[in-house]
Amino acid sequence: MSIRRLMESILFPPQRLDRRRLAEQLQGKTILITGASSGIGEQLSFMLSEYPVHLILVARREGKLLEMKREMEARGTAKVTVYALDLRDDDRMRGLLAALHTEHHDIDIVVSNAGHSIRRSIYDSLDRYHDFTRTMAINYFAPVQLLLSLIPMLERTGGHFIHTSTVNARMKPIPGWAAYQASKAAFDVWFRSAEPELNRRGIRTTSLYLPLVRTPMIQPTAAYSKMPAMTTEQVARIIGRCIYTRRRSWRPWWLMFAKLSSYLLRGLWEKAALRMVDNVRRGRRGTELPDQDHG
Ligand SMILES: NC(=O)c1ccc[n+]([C@@H]2O[C@H](COP(=O)([O-])OP(=O)(O)OC[C@H]3O[C@@H](n4cnc5c(N)ncnc54)[C@H](OP(=O)(O)O)[C@@H]3O)[C@@H](O)[C@H]2O)c1
Repeated sequence: MSIRRLMESILFPPQRLDRRRLAEQLQGKTILITGASSGIGEQLSFMLSEYPVHLILVARREGKLLEMKREMEARGTAKVTVYALDLRDDDRMRGLLAALHTEHHDIDIVVSNAGHSIRRSIYDSLDRYHDFTRTMAINYFAPVQLLLSLIPMLERTGGHFIHTSTVNARMKPIPGWAAYQASKAAFDVWFRSAEPELNRRGIRTTSLYLPLVRTPMIQPTAAYSKMPAMTTEQVARIIGRCIYTRRRSWRPWWLMFAKLSSYLLRGLWEKAALRMVDNVRRGRRGTELPDQDHG
């Protein structure tokens, strides 16, 4: 077993999923998943399509969504509806929300998962204000707009809103990821502020603080290919568990220790992160480009 594999088995132990409990919980439910065309969203969509549910899949790539719909419906268990749009586009977002209210007024579960990640040094961002507006647009404003619009419906159905956050939202921020971390942390804080009011009205809420997950999002950072990461199957199972256990948050067992050490050993932590940014800027990492968008 390689050291990476060994680390993965310690850091990300297997996640058990009680398929009977999940099936009971999902019976006849309507589930909206954003970011369904790739990575975590794609894996989750396929897992949930094994149950008699109505899946509403959202992402930009229409061809990919239609292909998924064909494959899933061919199994004859789930009904699938797709909406292909850029969630940052105001008009298209308003169109989606109108369609959700007129055509699917019984959404029970929302998995807000669409996201975009950018790794770029602040010194390579001086003329790139748009990196900050576009990450806020998809990682913060889009889920805020979606949830605000769906709150009355979720209250009526006793629904569940789940979102895919990151461990970085709960740790000391690292250089190179200002746009991504700030936008993910913004939604995390917004959601945790809204949560008690939503829960009081019967809407269930779950925040997933995910570590590195092996998806197309992390591919542009060559160094990540050697680092321990979760699989999309593991994350889909965790989301499945959260659906029937109704837990309010999930985080890896080691997050508290990582958070503590990121503050206590701040000097070392920043030094290591700065070295990575410097290496990337100097293009010392082989094929890696000086700065990259993820996803
Ligand atoms: N991978 C990780 O290490 C990691 C760790 C922590 C948290 N997360 C979070 O997990 C979520 C899923 O990430 P992933 O790793 O599965 O990434 P991914 O494979 O890149 O998938 C991102 C999804 O978001 C959709 N999307 C991106 N921009 C969009 C836009 N403007 N409008 C509509 N859809 C858009 C993409 O579809 P289209 O391109 O078709 O639009 C795709 O389906 C993200 O919110 C991410 O922040 C990931």
